Amino acid sequence: MQQSLISQLEIPEKSYQDFLEFVEDRYGLKLEWYNKSSVMRRLLKVMNQMQVNDLYTLKLLISESSHFQKFLDRFTVQVTELFREPNTWLEMRKSVLPVLSQRDKIDILLVGSSTGEELSSLAIILDEMGLMDKCQILATDLSAAALQKAHRPSISKARLHEADMNYRKAGGMSLLEDYYQTTSSLCHFHEQLFRKVKFEQFDISSGELNQKFDLILCRNLLIYFQTEFQEHPLSRLVHHLKPGGFLSLGEQETMAFYPNHENLQIVSSSQKIYRQNFVEQV
Ligand SMILES: C[S@@+](CC[C@H](N)C(=O)[O-])C[C@H]1O[C@@H](n2cnc3c(N)ncnc32)[C@H](O)[C@@H]1O
Repeated sequence: MQQSLISQLEIPEKSYQDFLEFVEDRYGLKLEWYNKSSVMRRLLKVMNQMQVNDLYTLKLLISESSHFQKFLDRFTVQVTELFREPNTWLEMRKSVLPVLSQRDKIDILLVGSSTGEELSSLAIILDEMGLMDKCQILATDLSAAALQKAHRPSISKARLHEADMNYRKAGGMSLLEDYYQTTSSLCHFHEQLFRKVKFEQFDISSGELNQKFDLILCRNLLIYFQTEFQEHPLSRLVHHLKPGGFLSLGEQETMAFYPNHENLQIVSSSQKIYRQNFVEQV
């Protein structure tokens, strides 16, 4: 079907619900958490790319897990940037990492880390603060393709100017160019920045992690979820904090839908950084 035609198609409610149910039953992913209008838009886009005309055919296609992986890579929005929301990184330097530096070991979790720019930002700051060797970082995302790129993060030369400005605003202590080497059009961050990183495909709506963390970053993912479902991911994130551990959300996100506020202190209300109140979560 031609692109212009399929983009005009509406998805009938019944097939939409049927599709959501199939994806959750088969793979655990709760698409109902996401904003419905954006899921509809993304589904139409994926149907175009995968050359299918209706959700029933898409369902048949993705019942094979390799096709489901491709579906996830196309369905997810992987927009990210180096030192995105620079004030958050300043706050990390000022209020979060100095506290965590007192611990023998620092376990850090990135949820929805995308293609590696957020991981690179974190790694550069840890390196500048001399903390890298006591850290263990777990970088996760729903998209396997995004994670694959995150193994050796790079940015295009065209984005260097913006990245450099963000790095300075984020309190950068060196020159950004000290951290990458350039090929024809890409700047590849030095491999040694990622020596303490493990990667894992992880779905916040259904995945299991069997450890707790001193710092969790889950930034610019919850904005894709309907407010009525945000309690679930927020509770899961808080559950995975060690006593006194920190949680960093995106600037546009909020803990408002998390019911047990007494478990958390606000570290920065503008940067959405919170700290677990030394209460063991059950
Ligand atoms: C907009 S990007 C944000 C990237 C980065 N955290 C940042 O702030 O720049 C959102 C990321 O969340 C991932 N994502 C979407 N749904 C997810 C889910 N259910 N579980 C884990 N990650 C998910 C996407 O693949 C995407 O890489």
